[in-house]
Amino acid sequence: MNVTWLEPHPDATAPLQALAGVGVVHERLPAAPEALQPGLDRLAAARGYVEQDIVELRPETVDLDAICRKFADEHLHTDDEVRYVLEGEGIFDIRSADDRWLRVTVEAGDLLVVPANLHHRFMLTERKHIRCVRLFKDRGGWVPHYRQGAPA
Ligand SMILES: [Fe+2]
Repeated sequence: MNVTWLEPHPDATAPLQALAGVGVVHERLPAAPEALQPGLDRLAAARGYVEQDIVELRPETVDLDAICRKFADEHLHTDDEVRYVLEGEGIFDIRSADDRWLRVTVEAGDLLVVPANLHHRFMLTERKHIRCVRLFKDRGGWVPHYRQGAPA
């Protein structure tokens, strides 16, 4: 995982510290299936996740651009957004406590939890490929609620 301020400024808190400050959880988990599932189960038990699935986006995914547009605008969910990256990579922009963008690039082996009610957006990298495990407390909570009048 790589974390930077999208627009650096001299007084900025260290980006990792700012990310922790808004409740984002990041861990590296081993990808070997016998090691991964116990790690995901531990997280699920600790945070109350009850469902798990796998999602994949590839260059040849039907309606890839339309799917990506849904998550490229700033939004939040009433459930946590939990992603463990199995393959590929992706970019999460996440709002800091002072409403600036933290850019988080994730790759295989990264587990990221964007907590409920925290504004963020998601984009693929130029490779346009990511395969992730998702965990949910309640699938109904994982609907984007778009932000109106957000700062740039
Ligand atoms: Fe989201």
